[in-house]
Amino acid sequence: MSKVRAAITGVGGYVPDYILTNKELESMVETNDEWITSRTGIKERRILKGENQGVSVMGIAAVKDMLAKTIIDPKEIDLVIFATVTPDMTFPATANIVATAVGATNAFSFDMGAACSGFLYALATGSSFIQSGMYKKVVVIGGDKMSAIVDYTDRTTCIIFGDGAGCVLLEPTTEDVGVIDYMLKSDGSGESYLHMKAGGSRMPASHNSVDTRSHYVYQEGSAVYKFAVTNMADISAQVAERNKLTAETIDWLLPHQANKRIIDATASRVGISEDKVLMNIERYGNTTAGTIPLLLWDFEKKLKKGDNLLMAAFGGGFTWGSVYVKWAYNTH
Ligand code: UT7
Repeated sequence: MSKVRAAITGVGGYVPDYILTNKELESMVETNDEWITSRTGIKERRILKGENQGVSVMGIAAVKDMLAKTIIDPKEIDLVIFATVTPDMTFPATANIVATAVGATNAFSFDMGAACSGFLYALATGSSFIQSGMYKKVVVIGGDKMSAIVDYTDRTTCIIFGDGAGCVLLEPTTEDVGVIDYMLKSDGSGESYLHMKAGGSRMPASHNSVDTRSHYVYQEGSAVYKFAVTNMADISAQVAERNKLTAETIDWLLPHQANKRIIDATASRVGISEDKVLMNIERYGNTTAGTIPLLLWDFEKKLKKGDNLLMAAFGGGFTWGSVYVKWAYNTH
């Protein structure tokens, strides 16, 4: 009997309308368009404005976009996984909120927190639920409202991050497509370089936590940069090697969009030419768990059935990973 795999059979996405440009950031912190562009490749990012607008707003819009394209009945969805580090609330899970809002009333749902690698962790998890044979339709969302946890007086972090969410539908297939292989890693010693101190059980919200600006992302950029370059490149090369993928047979590299220089280093390590590297960092910045599904959303039309996609991410935790997907459909 042929092996059952999880095929990506649909994609959805959403980015908010508001565009925060490098020019506008120049009026907020001591920075300039030239520095941001040359150091990161980012020109603008999207921001979700308005009261009571959590990351679920973007997750719901992304799933509705996918449902409209795939024309499936949301009641058939078995499971919703939402990868995010900016949930609407600590509990209930944002995946619960999204599932109910889109009419996935028969699904169970949970959130996954693995920062920038969140979507890859969730994709691998969703794929396993399909492979187990227990479930037939799994929705995997990756998205973050980074503007909720970014300090817009800190020029080292506020220039990087943006808001957005994307999602995929996973269904079983016995064809030679789908999630073929993955490698996921984590290392808790990365905590000191990239974290948000307050708001969890170790440091609940208090006057002091607000006064010390502890509810914002803390990042030691250059240290994280070094770990990211090495680990994202290494793990992509390992997944490529063990699947006998070469620069010629990889059709697309989908790297986490944190910094164009990290993306370039990963591509050169795997030997992939620039025209095979999917990128939208210049328009959205770093949307944390949103970057890879938003690449799929933006470039869906370019992907052809049978294409070899190599995804790679690195993020807070530290967490990192690479997933090899054989694309399952042509978009009409
Ligand atoms: O997605 C999750 C994982 N995160 C990442 O992968 C991010 C990894 N890190 C990075 O992408 C980069 O480290 C940053 C983009 C955050 C920073 O770039 P960098 O080239 O590592 O800069 P740096 O932190 O080494 O700072 C270089 C200089 C410093 O000035 P001095 O000390 O040399 O005088 C900074 O103060 O650039 C200065 N600087 C800025 N100047 C203008 C830092 N931020 C800015 C800014 N505008 N926004």
